[in-house]
Amino acid sequence: MATKATAPGKVILCGEHAVVYGQPAIALPLQDVRATATIEDRPAGTGLAIQTPDIGEQGHGPAPTPHPFAALIGLTLAHLGRSTSVDIAVTLRSAIPIASGMGSGAALGAALVKALAHHFGAGIAPAEVSRLVYESERVFHGTPSGIDNTVVSYEQAIWFMRGRTDEAAPTFEPLVIKEPFTLLIADTGVRAPTHLSVGRVREQWLQAPEHFNRYFADIGALAAEVRALLATGNAQRLGAALDRNQVLLRQLGVSSPELERLIAAARATGAFGAKLSGAGAGGIMLALVDTASCAAVARALQEAGAQRIVQTTVGQHNVLF
Ligand code: PMV
Repeated sequence: MATKATAPGKVILCGEHAVVYGQPAIALPLQDVRATATIEDRPAGTGLAIQTPDIGEQGHGPAPTPHPFAALIGLTLAHLGRSTSVDIAVTLRSAIPIASGMGSGAALGAALVKALAHHFGAGIAPAEVSRLVYESERVFHGTPSGIDNTVVSYEQAIWFMRGRTDEAAPTFEPLVIKEPFTLLIADTGVRAPTHLSVGRVREQWLQAPEHFNRYFADIGALAAEVRALLATGNAQRLGAALDRNQVLLRQLGVSSPELERLIAAARATGAFGAKLSGAGAGGIMLALVDTASCAAVARALQEAGAQRIVQTTVGQHNVLF
């Protein structure tokens, strides 16, 4: 019998990069764009097979060996107290673009952990899903803040701060969102691995730590402002805060011409504000819109080169934890 589980994609509303250096950030789940893991039993003695058809389809070619998700399967089976010699077929599918900033890796990981737990008859809490996905993300990203695995595991808009060390637990809280708001998330189509962009910021920070710490602190202060605006509901001021975050991200050197083109197009057609989201250097941007501007902004983004656009209304799915 097949067991299925899903997990959402995510966007970082504000605070990316600075969050790696201990500043707060805000992330939102994308409930309608999801990754799915399916587990099926195989005949005894045939071992583990992993298929990721969408990863191949998105231009990344055949998965390398050992498979990137094999380590997470091992970690999860150990957590469940099971032997790692299992006879199962794992199929991972995702509607989330790979390496774009929408959390595809973390969502696939969270879906996989949940599907494995359910397949072997165990319950698993979001905290455990998050911890296991974080462990495996460290293999790929080096110094992930932990925001991706947390938001996709809890499926809730979060205020997030990493622990002081990689081993220390992060702190996070569900966000209060007074009025639902709509984001258009547009993909530049430029694939930009997170660890490269994070590594470039680290190199610059090592060259000029005081300078960069000031940028990070300014971004952290903006995240606090955005949190307060979400609690009171003011789209104009929220948009302006997102615009200011983009200025700081540009100064960190993580924007790109493709991102700037989409951001300018969104602002010119009535978005309240727009910024890159995630690691930058390609990947995605987001624009805060209302019902009056949404269609025009979406059209302008398409004309400016967006490869795909996701519309999401934040504050409508409130899963409390
Ligand atoms: O995975 P992405 O592209 O959404 O980027 C993650 C956000 C960063 O702050 C740049 C890195 C991190 O680990 O938080």
